[in-house]
Amino acid sequence: MLSEPATTLRGLAISGVGLTKQFETQDGTNLALQPTDFSIEPGEFVSVVGPSGCGKSTLMLMIAGLLEPSAGQVLVDGKPLTEPLTDVGIVFQDDLLLDFRTSRDNILLQGKIRGLDKQEQLRRTDELMAQLGIEKAKNRYPNQLSGGMRQRVSIARALVHDPSVLLMDEPFGALDALTRTQMRIDLEALWRERPKTVLFITHSVEEAVGLADRVIVMGPSPGRIVKEMKIDLPRPRPVQVGDEAAFAEYSAEIYAIFKQLGVLHD
Ligand SMILES: Nc1ncnc2c1ncn2[C@@H]1O[C@H](COP(=O)(O)OP(=O)(O)O)[C@@H](O)[C@H]1O
Ligand SMILES: [Mg+2]
Repeated sequence: MLSEPATTLRGLAISGVGLTKQFETQDGTNLALQPTDFSIEPGEFVSVVGPSGCGKSTLMLMIAGLLEPSAGQVLVDGKPLTEPLTDVGIVFQDDLLLDFRTSRDNILLQGKIRGLDKQEQLRRTDELMAQLGIEKAKNRYPNQLSGGMRQRVSIARALVHDPSVLLMDEPFGALDALTRTQMRIDLEALWRERPKTVLFITHSVEEAVGLADRVIVMGPSPGRIVKEMKIDLPRPRPVQVGDEAAFAEYSAEIYAIFKQLGVLHD
């Protein structure tokens, strides 16, 4: 049985209709994403897993309204997206922190740009830093932090204005295995506390299954969705979620797809 989140469900519905992207390059046209349909429910946690170059980042940038589709469209709560999404937090693999601001000031920048109430943003920044275990890093500059701590700062920056949508593009890609595991646990806790629609891109099958309500599996070029899989594992998910029989079945199914597509072989 899935336990209900403490607060009422929120987040935006996001869907793609015939969403397509092709890039013109010196070598001709590169079809990065074939016409693609998908739909993500408000408050749903969706992972996208696929091999390098299959169009994951392209898909996310179009959902963020930062890259124009070649055809088709993104719908947000049923309305066509025609400009960058604003009710959103974004985390990339590279933390993109400003080296001349303390970690706390990096997080506060989000609310400053948006013109949000300073006191409330200060309170929320300190709360998030405590929840993410980085309160001691408050007055330190990014180059004085470990990779895991820097990425925690960038997650706090993406959440401090409590957006309805969180987009993450391989956010844990550069971190060691233990740090990644703790990040998965902490991210799930933050999402359960303040529900929002999450699109989490990864090339790790285990991370995709461990985090998501649903996994979208993408196949190699030209990029396309090859499978969508509902993940029925109870929450909160434990550190050793991989020990659960259902987890192993979901992972095996995804690995089988990648073998069939020639992405992996024995
Ligand atoms: N700005 C761009 N110009 C030309 N080709 C691009 C551009 N961005 C991405 N591509 C190509 O589109 C395909 C998908 O890229 P990307 O979305 O970054 O894949 P992924 O994130 O899954 O690794 C790749 O073939 C990549 O080379
Ligand atoms: Mg990418």
